[in-house]
Amino acid sequence: MLGLLARTMGKASLVKPSALVKPVSVTKIAGRYLAHQEGLPKLPVPPLRQTCERYLAMLEPVISEEELSHTRQLMSEFLRSGGVGERLQKGLERRARKTENWLSDWWLQTAYLEFRMPVVVYSSPGVVLPKQEFHDRQGQIRFAAKLIAGVLDFKTMIDNETLPVEYLGGQPLCMNQYYQVLSSCRIPGPKRDTVVNHALGKRPPTHITVVHNFQFFVLDVYNSDGTPLTVDQLYMQLEKIWNSSLQTNKEPIGILTSQHRNTWGKAYNNLIKDKTNKESVRAIQKSIFTVCLDAPMPRVSDDLYRSRAAVQMLHGGGSRWNSGNRWFDKTLQFIIGEDGTCGLIYEHAPAEGPPIVSLVDHVVEYTKKSEMVRSPMVPLPMPQKLRFNITPEIKKDIEKAKQNMNIMVHDLDVKVIVFTHFGKNFPKSQKMSPDAFIQMALQLAYFRMYQTCCSTYESASLRMFRLGRTDTIRSASIDSLNFVRGMDDPTKQNTEKVALLGKAVQAHRAYTDMAIRGQAIDRHLLGLKMQAIEDLASMPEIFMDTAYAVAMHYNLSTSQVPAKTDCVMCFGPVVPDGYGVCYNPMEEHINFAVSAFNSCEETDAARLAQALHDALVDMRDLLEQTPKAKL
Ligand code: COA
Repeated sequence: MLGLLARTMGKASLVKPSALVKPVSVTKIAGRYLAHQEGLPKLPVPPLRQTCERYLAMLEPVISEEELSHTRQLMSEFLRSGGVGERLQKGLERRARKTENWLSDWWLQTAYLEFRMPVVVYSSPGVVLPKQEFHDRQGQIRFAAKLIAGVLDFKTMIDNETLPVEYLGGQPLCMNQYYQVLSSCRIPGPKRDTVVNHALGKRPPTHITVVHNFQFFVLDVYNSDGTPLTVDQLYMQLEKIWNSSLQTNKEPIGILTSQHRNTWGKAYNNLIKDKTNKESVRAIQKSIFTVCLDAPMPRVSDDLYRSRAAVQMLHGGGSRWNSGNRWFDKTLQFIIGEDGTCGLIYEHAPAEGPPIVSLVDHVVEYTKKSEMVRSPMVPLPMPQKLRFNITPEIKKDIEKAKQNMNIMVHDLDVKVIVFTHFGKNFPKSQKMSPDAFIQMALQLAYFRMYQTCCSTYESASLRMFRLGRTDTIRSASIDSLNFVRGMDDPTKQNTEKVALLGKAVQAHRAYTDMAIRGQAIDRHLLGLKMQAIEDLASMPEIFMDTAYAVAMHYNLSTSQVPAKTDCVMCFGPVVPDGYGVCYNPMEEHINFAVSAFNSCEETDAARLAQALHDALVDMRDLLEQTPKAKL
């Protein structure tokens, strides 16, 4: 997928990206995207010694002095002049010269396509949108129709290459991910998966898939003249789908996609042996996106509503509820319930959260527009229902998938909170980076719960570079540890605590700047490891070391996904005894989604969410109670 794009990109002429700022036109600007991409810098390979030194510094707060001194020895051997490190670094630099991006394909393979755990809970993020003002089937269908029209409106910008170029820290960003999220789908394989992107094919699709009561339909969303269906037309088509899928006793074929990838890979080959099944699966894979019209979920109090909505997005609630009303391999699935619940789940391989959320922002604005002009009701053909022939073997696979799904559902604990005391405004008023402030609150919350700090992952965008994805911001540092220890130390004066907080926030912001400029350590270390594998060399000892395992065991896996919409992204933890924390800092409040596994006795999503709330309040109080003059 990326390779194909990289090849086409090579033919583009170079145009200064600054010439591309914001011209949004309704007509196609052919070649604009490729020209923009060509103007982006290539991802650098950081200097070897810099990464190794930073790696040792990063280990300090998370491992013992004894382990650290062992790792230091291994590192000096690795860095020996003419040694393994230098050889691997040279290999990486060669790869960087020869490819569009030395990392992106390795990353796609190792982080996603070779990852064998189910995409549900373990990889795919969900997004909870604000609850909508409808309470019945009609409202559900009308909202779905508007949402589809909104996505098609966004798609026009992608097709016409008129999407405004995004910026981070004043630098233009790679826009490639926007071209990967529509008309694409993951396909399971017995050892590794693939992703197909039909938008890049000769005949891009003109249909979406709609699923209701576990039954899939192909809905053509363009008229024969190429114009998208209007909201009214979409409404009528969705109503037809609804009415012809009233039976609730259908086999939840889509639940197969929630399985462990090897299991699903085998079941997939079995499923598509049948020609009808193969065609139906292909229609889903090829569709622009999927809309899931969900059955009602158990009612909960207002307090718990967002947490319940989050699990509906992440896994559908189990085989009794909506987990079969999905095709989890599909890159984009919008989910709409009858009670005003709406959001989405996306398969992570093709993109990170920010492009998805910017699409969401557009769609949400679109759905707010007053009712569209009524279109003349030219009768449209009945959307095609996708048939599946269920053999006893497929039935058995579905039963196994249901069981496995229900285990995952019981194991996932999600707590969504809206922190209302302040938003980005407060840290900004203190001349502090809001993201760093929130990350330090997380460090404090974790330390208060466990009296220790842990390896912490925060995603940093590498989109300043061509085909860039992410690197890791290591939020646990010596400075963060000094701050969290000092914060609750009764022997320390407030002024000292403020100074420790300020230093920790600054260190975090400095790491962020280093990461988004391609100078962080994690992807570089991964690259060195991959280079050793590619060279068929023995694995360097620094990667076999306990310290490396500890460094990679992220008890806190976190991400900021900011949006204009009052929504929140959510995802599962990445280790059995860890937490997943995602947040959307708005100007005056912050939405947080915290996840953990029930099977782990030490973790508790609600407790961490509460600790995070308290940490944020305490940090604000500390800053407010400490006279500025003394800072
Ligand atoms: N004083 C006052 N204001 C400050 C400040 C300071 N010292 N430092 C930052 N700010 C302001 C910024 O100017 C910005 O203003 P805006 O709201 O007008 O845009 C705002 O505070 C936010 O800045 P900050 O909190 O520092 O974060 P950021 O926006 O730079 O984001 C990351 C940091 C790491 C989230 C971002 O760089 C990134 O990489 N995002 C992508 C993450 C990703 O891919 N996640 C998806 C995973 S699926």
